[in-house]
Amino acid sequence: MAIKSSIKAYFPTLIYEGALVAEAQKQRKFLKDLENSSQKVFQSDTQGKKWSATHYPNGYTSYSSISNLHELNSSFINLKKKIDTHVAKYAQALGFAPRKLQMQSCWLNIMPPKATHSLHLHPLSVISGTFYVSVPKGSGALKFEDPRLSKMMAAPERRDKFASGSFARFAPRAGNVILFESWLRHEVENNTGVDERMSISFNYS
Ligand code: NI
Repeated sequence: MAIKSSIKAYFPTLIYEGALVAEAQKQRKFLKDLENSSQKVFQSDTQGKKWSATHYPNGYTSYSSISNLHELNSSFINLKKKIDTHVAKYAQALGFAPRKLQMQSCWLNIMPPKATHSLHLHPLSVISGTFYVSVPKGSGALKFEDPRLSKMMAAPERRDKFASGSFARFAPRAGNVILFESWLRHEVENNTGVDERMSISFNYS
């Protein structure tokens, strides 16, 4: 007679991905509008370009200069409203008590060829994420690190559904939002393509 046993998964790390607009034509319009508004932000943001030149090699972010995009104009306010819905769904899946999470900051990122963003987390926030405005070919994956990695003292390498065992890679798609808990370390891989990638990141707390 077979001996009974069971294996259950505890402490899972949940990562959320969702489309903001369902219909293709409406999505194109939505993205075009955001791209135009984002280009205006980029053009006007002298301070951010200066900061990026030192802190974000080869790339541009408005993180240090304009981090309230969600209050700036109707395109970004509309974006925030859509993201709010996804964050509520994600928070529910995480089992958070139904307290109201608010978008606290929201900023623009432009990654030309050769730009990367190395491993980091988002301190003092609960949920973070990125919405992808434009993702040309070769513009790099969003790579999450297994949060148990620092505790795996003698764990052998494992076969995994992900190409690299201790990392989960998400190939971003324009029009999609990716959400994760802010303590989860992540990085953006090198843009090996020839075009700029444009995304909008945010923190909720
Ligand atoms: Ni980040």
